[in-house]
Amino acid sequence: MMTEGKVSPETNISRRELFSYAWGAAMALFLAETGGIILVFSMPRFKEGEFGGRFEAGRVDRFDEGSVTLFRGGRFFLVRQGGEKFIALYQVCTHLGCLLRWDEDNQVYSCPCHGAKFAKDGTYISGPPPRSMDRFAVEVVDKQLVVDTGQRKPGTPA
Ligand code: FES
Repeated sequence: MMTEGKVSPETNISRRELFSYAWGAAMALFLAETGGIILVFSMPRFKEGEFGGRFEAGRVDRFDEGSVTLFRGGRFFLVRQGGEKFIALYQVCTHLGCLLRWDEDNQVYSCPCHGAKFAKDGTYISGPPPRSMDRFAVEVVDKQLVVDTGQRKPGTPA
């Protein structure tokens, strides 16, 4: 015979206790999911050496004075301006996002889409883009170059 308020006479658990356990289990599941989501979002979005992360570009002396080197994975041109002064220019055109090419003969970056031109230091020369090329932060640490593609500074208006 079943008593009032008891779910099952064999287990002897009241309905109130059953709801209490179910509520506790639901809260534990909710907290576990929330904790998992927070953990995933607190992880760095980009790994070292991937676009959006930090690139170790190599030793300073690896680059000739005045050289322009394309890092395809990082989508930037590294320009040695003199001594330990380097700039990293985002390869993406500031007009509609085509990939710029370095034209060694004419010493300009040119856009294959609408013909924009930028000087070696990324300064706007001609074409439809609204600003000069964007830049990434470059650090020299113990003669090693590190480019942070997570920190992009927009180019100056054309
Ligand atoms: S996308 Fe480069 S000029 Fe239009």
